[in-house]
Amino acid sequence: MAARKSAAILISGRGSNMRALVEAAEAAGFPARIALVVSNNPVAAGLDYAQAKGITTAVIPSKGRSREDFDAELHATLKAHNIELVCLAGFMRILTEGFVQNWAGRMINIHPSLLPAFKGVHVHEQVVASGVRFTGCTAHFVTPGMDEGPIIVQAVVPVPIGATADEVAALVLEQEHRIYPQALRWLAEGRLTVEGQVVRVQEAAVPQGAMISPTV
Ligand code: GAR
Repeated sequence: MAARKSAAILISGRGSNMRALVEAAEAAGFPARIALVVSNNPVAAGLDYAQAKGITTAVIPSKGRSREDFDAELHATLKAHNIELVCLAGFMRILTEGFVQNWAGRMINIHPSLLPAFKGVHVHEQVVASGVRFTGCTAHFVTPGMDEGPIIVQAVVPVPIGATADEVAALVLEQEHRIYPQALRWLAEGRLTVEGQVVRVQEAAVPQGAMISPTV
């Protein structure tokens, strides 16, 4: 087997997607190893989980700092740990264009909507207010435009009639935990090629058919 790629996960809070990645990477044959968890928030709950797992953690406080200053320290930290791939997992800070360019093709994000719909924050509130029948989540490459990078994989989730934003968030989160490890796996295996905005996944299957919601 080829050497496992060293991956870092960047978090700001709860870290449930981080946990899904860590658990996936524990499986024999997973092509990446979670070598580092970085948080910009010193009290991110996810840090406790990472430490309990014996993963190296780093806190780089972002409050009251310029983006350039923060990103320079982040880049140096990733380099110091020989990180090859970066996964943003509920990392709620905008990165500078220079940092993003440095990690182009090697940095991915999970977003809780079917991009390009519902970018930004308060996604589930927007989804519920909009009346869409389907929502979902997207794993994508990170580019300088927020939530605009080439899409690797998406999961579709029907929006139950009358569901609250929190209820939709819980349904979507379950799917985030499925697709994000899948995206990291493909990236680490070198199976993704990007042509403009389009990602090709070698040897991946696409399901047939359609879902309709609501139904009779
Ligand atoms: C997740 O739903 C993730 O998709 C979202 O924040 C949540 C973090 O949860 N990310 C964004 O909205 C980024 N734009 P987690 O800390 O439990 O993984």
